[in-house]
Amino acid sequence: MPTLQNILFNPRAIFIAALATISIFFLSLGQYTTSTTSTQVASATWLKGTHDTGSNKASALQRRISDIYNSTLGFQKILAISLHARTDRRDSLTLTTSLTNITLTFIDGVRPTDILEKTLPPYAGIANTGARGAWRGHINAMREVVSNGWGSALILEEDADWDVRVKEQLRDFAVGSLGVQMRSAHAPYFAERSGEYLRYEDVTSWLGQTDSNANLHVPHSPYGSDWDVLWLGNCGMRMNARREDWNTLAVVRSDDETAIPVPDYHHWDWEDAHPYDGAMNHSRWYLSQPTDGVCSIAYAVSQRGARRILLELGMERADKAFDLMLQDFCQGVPESEDEGERRPHSCWGVVPPLFAQYRGAGREDRDSDIAGSNENVREQGFTNNIQRSVRVNARKLVDGLGGEIVDSFPYGEGT
Ligand SMILES: *[C@@H]1O[C@H](CO)[C@@H](O)[C@H](O)[C@H]1NC(C)=O
Ligand SMILES: *[C@@H]1O[C@H](CO)[C@@H](O)[C@H](O)[C@H]1NC(C)=O
Ligand SMILES: *[C@@H]1O[C@H](CO)[C@@H](O)[C@H](O)[C@H]1NC(C)=O
Repeated sequence: MPTLQNILFNPRAIFIAALATISIFFLSLGQYTTSTTSTQVASATWLKGTHDTGSNKASALQRRISDIYNSTLGFQKILAISLHARTDRRDSLTLTTSLTNITLTFIDGVRPTDILEKTLPPYAGIANTGARGAWRGHINAMREVVSNGWGSALILEEDADWDVRVKEQLRDFAVGSLGVQMRSAHAPYFAERSGEYLRYEDVTSWLGQTDSNANLHVPHSPYGSDWDVLWLGNCGMRMNARREDWNTLAVVRSDDETAIPVPDYHHWDWEDAHPYDGAMNHSRWYLSQPTDGVCSIAYAVSQRGARRILLELGMERADKAFDLMLQDFCQGVPESEDEGERRPHSCWGVVPPLFAQYRGAGREDRDSDIAGSNENVREQGFTNNIQRSVRVNARKLVDGLGGEIVDSFPYGEGT
């Protein structure tokens, strides 16, 4: 089996590995070998909620997944962190959520000058700049989730943007991650596949057979019951980087109409290759245990995840920008001289991301409360990595011109 790293950089390897994975999948399924093209189609339809199998467990699972279409995207709550004084950001985010039938609650961002030095945790290397305020804003959000006992919450930074089809995208993400979690809880099958990648169709096909799996439990969250963080808005992540003993499992989808063309993918690391390099157009990668994630534009936490972050990234340390701490939280940190090993936690990521930063028209220094002032003026707003951005299309959506939505990253002929 080629390593995931090779697969990611080599389209030919993707094909070969796909064949290998499919055959291994069917060989080791044993009692689940009833998957055929027709059951795959049936299960895909079933997951889209257009076909009710009539049985209790399958329809309970179907209903749970359809919670993703509710106004909090299948999470218990959505929180947006924003300085009280940034009325411009609050106006814009409020309109964006309203246009996609989403409800959120603002929580106040924190200015670094409002943080008392003595409140910092023992490992507190974080610079006394906007980064320190941003860190505290995220930790306040975690405290909110913990004190209210919410089962899950999506945390947004104030400039987050998404595709008008975000609910379908999240439903698809959930099916990939939920399928792996349910299968792993049921049998070590997917856990043993760590370091490989699975075809999305195989995961849905397996899920479509819920009824034949007597000891499956329908999870409380449509995203599954065994996760700490779902890192949905990132500026890039990798697989298997940094740690030799670390294996990312990827669920690869190859027919995602909402995925941007591969050459348009924008990633934080300009120097090095990234996961979407050499990938197929219309593909999206759902990553269990991603590494090198950057940017905390949007991520969900479970109650367990919020408690862990509050403890580990709030009370025990504040040594880096929050997104880099989240990266450590997900991938763990090997033992070092002055501290013991920090273990990894259960995270899922997605490439290309489902949420990204909007850069609005107007003065560029409006973008950040962290960076300094900058007189440049941008004529038109844009968002990387999102094909049909809500913010780019805000005027059309407000005017009810839904049919004329702009694709910021259209495909050319024949792709
Ligand atoms: C949306 O679904 C989630 C998951 O079932 C649930 O916790 C949340 O309360 C629902 N939101 C609303 C507004 O009903
Ligand atoms: C929001 O809800 C309205 C009314 O139900 C619906 O017409 C519209 O298509 C929804 N918009 C999105 C983006 O889901
Ligand atoms: C993906 O689509 C883009 C835009 O249409 C095209 O330029 C590119 O060649 C396609 N890549 C592959 C591998 O088909």
